[in-house]
Amino acid sequence: MIEKQLLFVCLGNICRSPAAEAVMKDKIKTSGLDHLISCDSAGIIGFHSGAPADARMQMHAIRRGYKLTSISRQIKPKLDFNRFDMVIGMDDQNIKDLNSLSRSEKDRKKIFLMTDFCLKMTFNHVPDPYYGDNEDFELVLDILQDACDGLLEHLKTQNHLGRK
Ligand code: 4NP
Repeated sequence: MIEKQLLFVCLGNICRSPAAEAVMKDKIKTSGLDHLISCDSAGIIGFHSGAPADARMQMHAIRRGYKLTSISRQIKPKLDFNRFDMVIGMDDQNIKDLNSLSRSEKDRKKIFLMTDFCLKMTFNHVPDPYYGDNEDFELVLDILQDACDGLLEHLKTQNHLGRK
């Protein structure tokens, strides 16, 4: 039975949040917790709805063994805040937008900033790589891998997942 549902959110849902979803799914699977934790991703804007992840993001991710399969969709505030336990934005603007879309204190308690889970890296946001180069896409993956390690630890300790 799934106990925790995670939604990763960025602006367009074609670079950072699809990568976060894939990295986290991989770590969950490796930890043997895929029956307990599920992941999805969405964008603040619907401009890229229906599109696969950005080809550059896919290319950098596959080199590290992550296959990006998600199709871009815009966040549906009512449905998504009801369904998901954690709604995790990539930067401060995502957090501001998610707060604007939230309807209650219960919703707002579900909003988290991805880099707050980083264990080793000291970034306070996952920088938008859309207008960037190869290094920017690599940096996104470095930050996400570290943040996903921390997020998994958080889920294990806060929710005793996999430690019953
Ligand atoms: P993402 O990157 O939020 O990481 O998916 C972006 C994708 C598209 C745009 C901006 C950022 N855009 O302006 O279309």
